Amino acid sequence: MPIPMAYRRGSGRSALGGNPVSIEEVPFDSEPRIMTGISEFDRVLGGGVVCGSVTLVGGDPGIGKTTLLLQALPRLSQEGSAVLYVSGEESLTQIKMRGHRLGIDNGFLYLLSETSLEEILQSAQALNPAAIVVDSIQTTFSTQLTSTPGSVTQVQEVAAQLMSFAKQRDIPVFIIGHVTKEGAIAGPRILEHIVDTVLYFEGDSGHSHRILRAVKNRFGSTNEIGVFEMTESGLLEVGNPSALFLEDRARGSAGAVVVAMMEGTRPILVEVQAIVSPTHFANPKRVATGVESNRVSILLAVLEKHLGLRLSGQDVYINVVGGMRIDETASDLGIVAAVMSSIRECPIDTQMLVCGEIGLGGEIRAVSAADIRIREASKLGFKRCVIPEGNLGSLKKKAHMTLVGVKHVREAQNALFL
Ligand code: TYD
Ligand code: MG
Repeated sequence: MPIPMAYRRGSGRSALGGNPVSIEEVPFDSEPRIMTGISEFDRVLGGGVVCGSVTLVGGDPGIGKTTLLLQALPRLSQEGSAVLYVSGEESLTQIKMRGHRLGIDNGFLYLLSETSLEEILQSAQALNPAAIVVDSIQTTFSTQLTSTPGSVTQVQEVAAQLMSFAKQRDIPVFIIGHVTKEGAIAGPRILEHIVDTVLYFEGDSGHSHRILRAVKNRFGSTNEIGVFEMTESGLLEVGNPSALFLEDRARGSAGAVVVAMMEGTRPILVEVQAIVSPTHFANPKRVATGVESNRVSILLAVLEKHLGLRLSGQDVYINVVGGMRIDETASDLGIVAAVMSSIRECPIDTQMLVCGEIGLGGEIRAVSAADIRIREASKLGFKRCVIPEGNLGSLKKKAHMTLVGVKHVREAQNALFL
């Protein structure tokens, strides 16, 4: 077995402690990063993997966490150094077979099927890898503790020890954690406080796309998302998520409209759908997926108040296509447009983008990054955009589409339905 070459790791982070240093004397670039070359992954991490950092990757069982890290880990091998994948869930043969399917035949990738933390750390010390993946936190346990694997104390202990190993060795460590039905990483949320970065891998079994989202990142923003597609041969990066999310659009059906949401620095176009229909219930239904239902209630109240729509006898269903989640008020006007389109049974032009925040007075407020959103829509062949009038003046470049500025939902009604 070739002894892996010792890998020169970044300076500055190799040990905790030492004397206090003036902030002026701390070097700027004391955070060496390694790029995996999987740009969707690097971006979510804040521009590559930070040496000495611990990243928790959480997600439902079967979503693709093992696949993602098996694909990313060999790319962290630097100058011929080993990288170590520890699995407490699968045998070496199983991982080998899976790696074969993923086209991973990198001799620098070392596998270890082990659940004892002490054994893992000992092997890691001997191998001196450039990066480690521990799959999963629930199966790994310390023999120093009597509690069962996956319990709060075990999970905390394992994470803390891996954290100190990462800092001492100045190598990145990834911990995989399964998520319970309630959405928390099984065991304690306390794990999120210990590690440097927490990523969630999301998606649903009905769709092939997966979204990697940072919920905590000591080394970058938490707004960025990475989009992947699960295929026969593993995860593929999706460089143009808008095109993916708009793929199966029904043409000419009422109650659907496209909005542009910002995920970090990147605009993503998604379709918002609404059904408004007479209710058979004592209390009309208000069901929203992918958008907060309180926000929907507010927007419906605005429609009732300022457009005189009678919604009290109507069920309202809102859906954001592709399992995406909208948490920006910039999509208010889009939601309202979908609702109005369904009420009138009048489709909205499929080449129209709608954006704008709505205030309680029915006024339409300017949104951030309007030109980025418009440019994305323009790239995908959109021809018309209904935007807040307040944004018209601030657009830096001339868009290659017709822009219709609106100030109030009343006006928007006219702009949406020609
Ligand atoms: P996996 O990475 O094992 O998920 P996790 O570690 O989060 O539990 O992914 C398992 C699913 O992914 C499984 O349903 C099969 C599917 N898959 C593919 O579709 N293509 C592939 O190349 C691989 C390796 C898995
Ligand atoms: Mg797995």
